[in-house]
Amino acid sequence: MSPRSQNRRKFLLLAVVAAIVGLVIGLLIGRFGIRSDNDEYRITGISETFVQDADPYISAEIMDNINSENIRQYLRELTEHPHLAGTDADYKQAKDLQEFWRSVGLDETFITPYDVLLSYPETKDESKMNRIFVYDSAGQVVWKSALYEPILDPSENKSNVVPPFNAYSASGDVSSTDLVYVNYGRVEDFRWLAQNTDINITGKIVLARYGKNFRGDKAYQAEILGAKGIILYSDPEDYANNGEATQVYPHGWFLPESGTQRGTIFRGYIGDPLTPGYPATETAYRLKGNGTNSVALPKIPCHPIGYGAAKILLSYMSGDQVPASWRGGLNITYRFGGPLKQSGWKIRMRISTKNTRKKMYNVFGVIRGSIEPDRYVLLGNHLDAWVFGAIDPSSGTAVMKEVSRVMGNLVQKKKWRPRRTIIFCGWGAEEFKLIGSTEWVEQYIKNLGSRSVAYLNLDIASEGNYSMRLRATPLMRSVTYAAAKKVPNPEETDTRFKTVYDKWMYAFPNADKSRPRDFRLGLLSDYASFIQRAGIPVADFRYTYNRNELKLPSYPLYHSKYETFKAVDEFMDRGFKCHRASGQVWAEVARNLADSLIIPFQVEDYAKTLKDGVDNLENEFGLLMKKNGIELELLYKAISVFAADAADFQERAKHVDKKNPFAIRSLNDQLTLMERAFIDPEGLPGRPLARNIVFADSSTNAYADAIFPGLIDGMFEIEESADEERRWEIVKKHFSVVIHTIDSAASTLRDVSAFMPL
Ligand SMILES: *[C@@H]1O[C@H](CO)[C@@H](O)[C@H](O)[C@H]1NC(C)=O
Ligand SMILES: *[C@@H]1O[C@H](CO)[C@@H](O)[C@H](O)[C@H]1NC(C)=O
Ligand SMILES: *[C@@H]1O[C@H](CO)[C@@H](O)[C@H](O)[C@H]1NC(C)=O
Ligand SMILES: *[C@@H]1O[C@H](CO)[C@@H](O)[C@H](O)[C@H]1NC(C)=O
Ligand SMILES: *[C@@H]1O[C@H](CO)[C@@H](O)[C@H](O)[C@H]1NC(C)=O
Ligand SMILES: [Zn+2]
Repeated sequence: MSPRSQNRRKFLLLAVVAAIVGLVIGLLIGRFGIRSDNDEYRITGISETFVQDADPYISAEIMDNINSENIRQYLRELTEHPHLAGTDADYKQAKDLQEFWRSVGLDETFITPYDVLLSYPETKDESKMNRIFVYDSAGQVVWKSALYEPILDPSENKSNVVPPFNAYSASGDVSSTDLVYVNYGRVEDFRWLAQNTDINITGKIVLARYGKNFRGDKAYQAEILGAKGIILYSDPEDYANNGEATQVYPHGWFLPESGTQRGTIFRGYIGDPLTPGYPATETAYRLKGNGTNSVALPKIPCHPIGYGAAKILLSYMSGDQVPASWRGGLNITYRFGGPLKQSGWKIRMRISTKNTRKKMYNVFGVIRGSIEPDRYVLLGNHLDAWVFGAIDPSSGTAVMKEVSRVMGNLVQKKKWRPRRTIIFCGWGAEEFKLIGSTEWVEQYIKNLGSRSVAYLNLDIASEGNYSMRLRATPLMRSVTYAAAKKVPNPEETDTRFKTVYDKWMYAFPNADKSRPRDFRLGLLSDYASFIQRAGIPVADFRYTYNRNELKLPSYPLYHSKYETFKAVDEFMDRGFKCHRASGQVWAEVARNLADSLIIPFQVEDYAKTLKDGVDNLENEFGLLMKKNGIELELLYKAISVFAADAADFQERAKHVDKKNPFAIRSLNDQLTLMERAFIDPEGLPGRPLARNIVFADSSTNAYADAIFPGLIDGMFEIEESADEERRWEIVKKHFSVVIHTIDSAASTLRDVSAFMPL
């Protein structure tokens, strides 16, 4: 044998030995090496487990185990006492939830405190408590507002019920000889008043009804027009089905005359007012409450009352009768007002609401993913309530407890561990301006931005028993429909509809009846920072009332003390079947996103929504834009390119190599990260913290939103503005940013190495 062939033999032998050793090591790694922190969950056979799809059996297992009686019991416990943000009861609720999550087998729990600016009314010294007075010409009090909502049912007889107030109202003691009615206090209402009457609200107190827009925008309009103070009230036309006594609480779910809506009036941005854009940690720089570098807090007193009190104020008013569209449901002649009817009378607002730094808490419970622990499906609900919060938010908290119990149990019994990490989030201080969730997103955006699959919000699980409704980005539609098709219709008496989806399609179809219609996203709950700052796909689930028949701005007892367990248990969802159905849909969407090999997002649905947005711009402003050199055609073109890329992408996705974990991961990253492309770090014109080009609230009404909010706001009454020319330049610049953003989003869907044009 030549030395050469000897060498070759030696080499071959070595190679064989090496191959065997390699194989054994490989097998050992496969058997023992890769496992989750919970060591029982072992992965055997790398390739198989890595590319295994979800176990379809688990879907029914989770949904069937969600129990309505448990939800009912949780809600009863959660609403036993008021749990306002920043109070001991609120902290206790966070600690209890953490303990609960430990007990039901979640892998890890955390609490994140933040030090933020909250706002409370005076409650100790009666002579300082918020109150509205009317005086006669001799200076005698003829009427004063109640300090509290009276106890209408013994279950409300609890301490620490915060009196009605509007958070972040200016404190102050203001008087006026005039009281002016401004309908809903929208921009158009104030303008109508200025154009059609001689009334000038400067230096006066105004009365506005709740509904139609965000209360903070009402107060802001009054402030910038020079009003001294603003009183908000809930009209029975909007909140009490015109006050049918038999149906108002405690006999039904409508608002009684003493029921008063609390709520924040801070506007401008979401999160802690003192630390915009950054987390309210110990080292955070904080704006001042006043002076240089001050935060733009409301500058005039604002206070809410019920319709019993409003009727009295309206009866003191003078002036002409208002037009029909301004009339509410009280049995009284609605007048514009001006000087009070009796000469020498005066109205006074004594408001001692104060802003104060407080600790608030978020709490988290984690189920660590088995294969992709670094991909997160987030499920959240806020814990803080204005008072008992039986609907907002504790209906959602009760359901979150039940869903986490069911999932935790499966993990504990080693029946299931999701492919990706599931994080349950209990948010603090949502009611003050989505503070807990926003601070958390601000703190962890670098982790969340690249790793989150979706944020799934359940604030109010059930505000009625009629149908499901969805606020979501287009990506979330089809996965939610799929879940709703699996959940039986909770109305057992109505056999026309088999599933939640069937009823939903009947209740709220879209224009061409092809699917349920979208409810506008707005920035109404804790999903806001996820979509607006981080570009994470979001959805907000809810069972709602019959909105086709009842023209209510919200469920009637909203933010009043009468939002009690009794109201839910006796009038709104007897048997808690709709709570359960919301939880089933929510849990099934979460399971599907956390467990499926390929994330079930439909990027093509985005193209349709974008096109609807431009159609809307075309209808509203098409001619005006064209006259000023803005070609909407360019935007249509960008969207058709996006649509083509989206269609290509979905086609490629069908042929992905399902045995290749890297190909799967790459596809999933494109699916989840596309939404990020709609974030512009510069923000919308004049609104650096509103960073999503497609979805935001409108700057004149935080409760509304529009596709392409920067363009909608830019065009708002542009021809009537004094600086029209400058505003057109802003619109033109933003128009080009919108086109660029859509191009960017399209490019993320292309082949990963061939994303540029040839
Ligand atoms: C509330 O409870 C207290 C004692 O706990 C009782 O004295 C009072 O009468 C109750 N008030 C109402 C209105 O039920
Ligand atoms: C309203 O009154 C204020 C002060 O009394 C005055 O400065 C302002 O110009 C008036 N506005 C209109 C539109 O007349
Ligand atoms: C500004 O706020 C500080 C405390 O934050 C207070 O001491 C001061 O009086 C305030 N100044 C004015 C003008 O309101
Ligand atoms: C409305 O008020 C008038 C006078 O105050 C009264 O006569 C009438 O009965 C009231 N109508 C209703 C429906 O309550
Ligand atoms: C459903 O809600 C309506 C009010 O919208 C109420 O009248 C009805 O009793 C409720 N049904 C159940 C089962 O709770
Ligand atoms: Zn809420």
